[in-house]
Amino acid sequence: MSSLPSLLSQRVQAVAGADPELRPATKPQFGHFQSNVALRLAKQEGAKPRDVAQRIVDALDLDDLCETPEIAGPGFINFRLRSDVLARTVSDQLADPKAGIAQTTEPKRIVIDYSSPNVAKQMHVGHLRSTIIGDCFRRVLSAQGHTVIAQNHIGDWGRQFGMLIEQINDEKLDLDTLDLPGAEALYRRANAHLNEDEAFAERARERVVKLQSGDPETKAQWQQLISISLAGFNRTYRRMNVLLSDKDVAGESTYNDMLAAVADDLESRGIAVHDSGALVVFVDGFDAPAIIRNSAGGYGYDATDLAAIRHRIDDLDADRIVYVTDARQANHFKLVFSIARRAGYLPDDVQVQHVGFGMVLGPGGTPIKTRDGGTVTLESLLDEAEEHASPQIALAAIKYADLSNSLQKDYVFDAERMTQTTGDTGPYLQYAHSRCAGILREAAARSLVSSDATTITVLDEPAEQELALWLTRFGEMVQVVADELTPHKLCTYLFELATKFSAFYEKCPVLKSDGDVRSSRLALVAATKQVLATGLDLLGIIAPDRM
Ligand code: ARG
Repeated sequence: MSSLPSLLSQRVQAVAGADPELRPATKPQFGHFQSNVALRLAKQEGAKPRDVAQRIVDALDLDDLCETPEIAGPGFINFRLRSDVLARTVSDQLADPKAGIAQTTEPKRIVIDYSSPNVAKQMHVGHLRSTIIGDCFRRVLSAQGHTVIAQNHIGDWGRQFGMLIEQINDEKLDLDTLDLPGAEALYRRANAHLNEDEAFAERARERVVKLQSGDPETKAQWQQLISISLAGFNRTYRRMNVLLSDKDVAGESTYNDMLAAVADDLESRGIAVHDSGALVVFVDGFDAPAIIRNSAGGYGYDATDLAAIRHRIDDLDADRIVYVTDARQANHFKLVFSIARRAGYLPDDVQVQHVGFGMVLGPGGTPIKTRDGGTVTLESLLDEAEEHASPQIALAAIKYADLSNSLQKDYVFDAERMTQTTGDTGPYLQYAHSRCAGILREAAARSLVSSDATTITVLDEPAEQELALWLTRFGEMVQVVADELTPHKLCTYLFELATKFSAFYEKCPVLKSDGDVRSSRLALVAATKQVLATGLDLLGIIAPDRM
């Protein structure tokens, strides 16, 4: 579905033979859009701009969309949408349960690899960002009708399990009493132990071998560490109101049985080579090769990701794969993607992308740390934001702060600023939504809502026209965000919507007006509420009716 502005743009382009580059008009008396296409064409043709403008206007047939276009100044063309067309478009959108989000004509199977914390460690700020961003992608792409397959690639395999299990045994720890923070404390004790006790380190290495060879008791302990961790992750996911569940978990260990085959395949086809005892793949332009199997015979992060790609293509039937991690992993993914393409694991027509994001900074503008220099847990950030606002508002604050800058940028975690209900914040958008709800509530309580308060009929005031026009652009905005994976554009759109709504509400009395004007304005409030609610939902933010 094309929005009115893009429909208009296409029509003008067809006649002018060039992109009209429609800009919003600077003043209401200039209509809604202005184009300088005549000035550009006139320059090329050596003609008079106003003549070219006249020629274009004469050839245009826009009666179903616009008033007669006007030529202004040196040769600008001004367009004013017909207010009845605008009114009808917004009314139709209000009647659409999807608020104008178009369903894709080519539904795809899209894997989104996100959150992906590590067993026996609490989620830290990096996982906060991955979880929020990945969840937003999931919501946006699902809303368009794609099948999203979330993959929570948790770190549930590796050498650390050797020391963890040895430490458990040394301490005769009852795993039934352990929770995730307890597991993390155990991790630190095990690590310290490993560094100071060579005999312990040796036992830890032997324990890894036992785990790999499937020793039942060791495996049960490993499995229990995973369960403890998942319980902790799930608690955080529920607190964060994200869509992740156990169904989405596909940890690194999922791919264990595929790793030898990947290594053999790459080796037999000459893609992987032996290098100081390890099996590696060199890729042009990279400082270091990918390590498929280390000299001790172990498989690591690179090999696992190659196996995961095979699984996602062959078994999950993915048409597109999106990875959400911090930007520092960019190199790892480039390397893996390039090898997967070369090996034919990743067909040319499958789009694969790593969406890297920047760091969360503390008040000093340096990466956020605890007082004693440790990594900050996600839970503690939520706690901090909740010191300033209710849980629902605190969460909106965090998610919006995370999504409203372009993802690659670092941002400062300033709980006080981001929980504010004024300015470019999540709570401000929630507040705008609750204001809409309040107006409609009041109208209902006073029985002011007639049966047709779902139809916009009158759009005479510039402020209401501007609001209506902005509302009609929602579907197109969601399309852009889905194509580019740029949630900040949706944030900007919604912030602008809330601002235009405020201007409208200031200038155009709603409850104090009468008759058609009142019911039309109430419908416009309802349409604003609908787009705010739908848009906030795509960001993973709850839209409250009262605040
Ligand atoms: N567990 C990793 C980390 O905490 C992120 C995994 C991302 N996904 C992947 N397929 N490599 O950094």
